[in-house]
Amino acid sequence: MRGPAPSLKSLRMTKRPILIHPDPRLRKVASAVPDLSDELRRMADDMLKTMYDAPGIGLAAPQIGQNHRLIVLDCVKEKSEAPRPLVMFNPEIIASSDEKSVYEEGCLSIPEQYAEVTRPADVSVRWIDYNGNEQQEDFGGLWATCVQHEIDHLDGKLFIDYLTPLKRQLITRKMQKLKRERFR
Ligand code: NI
Repeated sequence: MRGPAPSLKSLRMTKRPILIHPDPRLRKVASAVPDLSDELRRMADDMLKTMYDAPGIGLAAPQIGQNHRLIVLDCVKEKSEAPRPLVMFNPEIIASSDEKSVYEEGCLSIPEQYAEVTRPADVSVRWIDYNGNEQQEDFGGLWATCVQHEIDHLDGKLFIDYLTPLKRQLITRKMQKLKRERFR
């Protein structure tokens, strides 16, 4: 089921700065959204713009320092295909396949670092869409990987948490160095 497309061409859309790991705000459990508001919809619009500009295929609200259970994603890879921006408030994985898939993941909060992560190959997700309607859909392939990666962000979890402590430390040190250089 396809949710109504957010107002992609809205002039109000603002690119927001993306937090870089390590940052305590990326490690918090985000709060459920009790009611949709124009402010939250605007946040979703901003997140889509931020994601597309990065460029990325998914972004979670904690990555822009917002402690809400809100993610956006668009895993359409082919330029010839129409974009499919999805906005999910309070997304929940309600079923996962036993079958696993391995994908080389990256994250906009951990720039230029990639590693293979094993996750369920297919997941069934329930969420509240841009218009406040409940949606449910089964995802496979890249969409399944991406939606799981983004929902992890809402629980303060990053893809590097699936790696060995040594690999995780190595990546974290690189990010600390990157941040020092950026703020110099
Ligand atoms: Ni990420």
